[in-house]
Amino acid sequence: MVKTLIPKITKAVFPVGGMGTRFLPATKAIPKEMLPVVDKPLIQYAVEEAYAAGIRQMIFVTGRHKRSIEDHFDTAYELEAELESQHKDVMLAVVRSIKPEDMDCIFVRQPRALGLGHAVLCAENLVGNEPFAVLLADDLMVGEPPVLKQMIQSFSTAPGTVLAVQEVPREHTKRYGIVSVHSDQRAYAAVDGIVEKPAPEDAPSTLGVAGRYILSPSIFQSIRSQPRGVGGEIQLTDGIAGLIGVEPVYSLRYTGTRYDCGSKDGFLQATIDLALANPELAESVKDHMRASLAR
Ligand code: G1P
Repeated sequence: MVKTLIPKITKAVFPVGGMGTRFLPATKAIPKEMLPVVDKPLIQYAVEEAYAAGIRQMIFVTGRHKRSIEDHFDTAYELEAELESQHKDVMLAVVRSIKPEDMDCIFVRQPRALGLGHAVLCAENLVGNEPFAVLLADDLMVGEPPVLKQMIQSFSTAPGTVLAVQEVPREHTKRYGIVSVHSDQRAYAAVDGIVEKPAPEDAPSTLGVAGRYILSPSIFQSIRSQPRGVGGEIQLTDGIAGLIGVEPVYSLRYTGTRYDCGSKDGFLQATIDLALANPELAESVKDHMRASLAR
């Protein structure tokens, strides 16, 4: 039997150049990716998910007003010296663990906010000719194994472009890329169509794409060859549509929970659930919620 070589996913792209208008006024001067859920900014959850999936090269596609993201993954010399002199070893370890020694962070600017597809194109020279992951940090994913790891496991059984999908209410199809699949039965299924943010009556299914992708390097050429899409933007979804029928494109119904932290209710749900999952906070949060609900 001829063994085909499955490429390893070594790079993750984080498009973090967006304006975060859904979360104003909080995001006027702070990038939405730096909003904390419990005690960590959203971008750190996404980077930790990629790291847990074995990825060591993190590529951030940033924009103006996003310097705090670079600072977060840089050495904080004064802070570390201060913690060290005060023997605050636990906190020092927490600060240092944000960027493990074997992790590389690379930053590239998206000069204009022309859409998610455009952001991905900005990483082309850094990615090169290999499959890579894309993680949208405002989708906070909680899963065991982590959702990107589940996707890489499926990719290693049948490589191709992989989209994390979940069932969404039909009235919400306008918020997502919506896929149609050959066989509705299997968790890992071949995609035969994808459309960006269709109206409920036009949606081919109710399988919505969450912000996790494994993309074939052919995506770059495909994005470039598409006309402007929904909202006049260069859409990643349209680039993926261009791959269908040319290369394998799969969707994976992942196991886990997605929090849309670009919206106020999703962000609050994430905060509540992650606080309840934190042994140091769970009891006091429960007490507080009981008291608040009884008022
Ligand atoms: C983007 C994608 C969309 C996907 C969604 C997941 O939309 O364009 O296809 O379903 O992320 O969060 P956005 O939420 O950036 O408008």
